[in-house]
Amino acid sequence: MTIADKSVLVTGANRGIGQALVEEALRRGAKQVYAGTRGPLVHADGRVTALALDVTDAAQIQAAVERIGSLDYLINNAGIALYDDLSDRSVLEQHLAVNLFGTYGVTQAFLPLLTRSGGTIVNNVSMMAFVPLPFTPAYAISKAATFNYTQSLRALLAGRGVKVHAVLTGPTDTDMTRGFDIPKASPESVARAIFDGVDKGEEDIFPDPLSASLSQSWRNGPVKALEHEYAALVGAVPVTS
Ligand SMILES: NC(=O)c1ccc[n+]([C@@H]2O[C@H](COP(=O)([O-])OP(=O)(O)OC[C@H]3O[C@@H](n4cnc5c(N)ncnc54)[C@H](OP(=O)(O)O)[C@@H]3O)[C@@H](O)[C@H]2O)c1
Repeated sequence: MTIADKSVLVTGANRGIGQALVEEALRRGAKQVYAGTRGPLVHADGRVTALALDVTDAAQIQAAVERIGSLDYLINNAGIALYDDLSDRSVLEQHLAVNLFGTYGVTQAFLPLLTRSGGTIVNNVSMMAFVPLPFTPAYAISKAATFNYTQSLRALLAGRGVKVHAVLTGPTDTDMTRGFDIPKASPESVARAIFDGVDKGEEDIFPDPLSASLSQSWRNGPVKALEHEYAALVGAVPVTS
């Protein structure tokens, strides 16, 4: 399935990678692009519908489901990253609330629509799911959890015809990485690589030069093989909701 003539929801769509994903979806001929944001958003393209969508707000998530009605692609992109040193539990909780439970809440709510369409879920995770940077350990913990969640979703939803992709994004030039003086990919190139990866059916997408350097060893490695082995056990497990 390619995105042309399809409907897509992008969370965190007002800036950074989310904004680039909206533009790339439009460029690829999406029929309808829902842009989930916390603030107001106006877009010149008539295919874009702005939606108030704080991913930690259950009422807003439910309202978005009712407004959208049918959906082919859900892109869980909204995220936060704060500097910390794990000394403050509330910082870890904040990251989990947005990056893990926000992704979980939006996904659960849209699952009936995605099951109906035989749709696709794309979770913008992070390379830090594999290895933390010491400046943002709480962020890395939340992304490791979100990656593991994505792997479970993939196994559990395969039987329902819903595809699930993880994006192991590396350094990208957005507000989130403003403090890091390192080589960064552009959000536009990352958005293109994400849709290319989805089109190619890549379970795990490595959309920038740094993350791409890990792709071969990950895809051909023993951990990925074990993921497939475990996923094959899911057959008899009933999935609710
Ligand atoms: N940039 C990187 O190097 C990099 C690397 C790996 C992974 N990622 C991941 O890529 C995703 C996008 O990051 P980015 O680099 O584009 O960061 P960004 O420029 O800081 O944008 C973050 C986006 O998430 C939104 N957001 C934050 N909390 C939210 C909430 N509770 N509900 C709804 N939206 C919320 C923000 O909305 P507001 O404008 O309202 O704050 C904003 O649209 C994140 O999940 C991030 O972890 C980024």
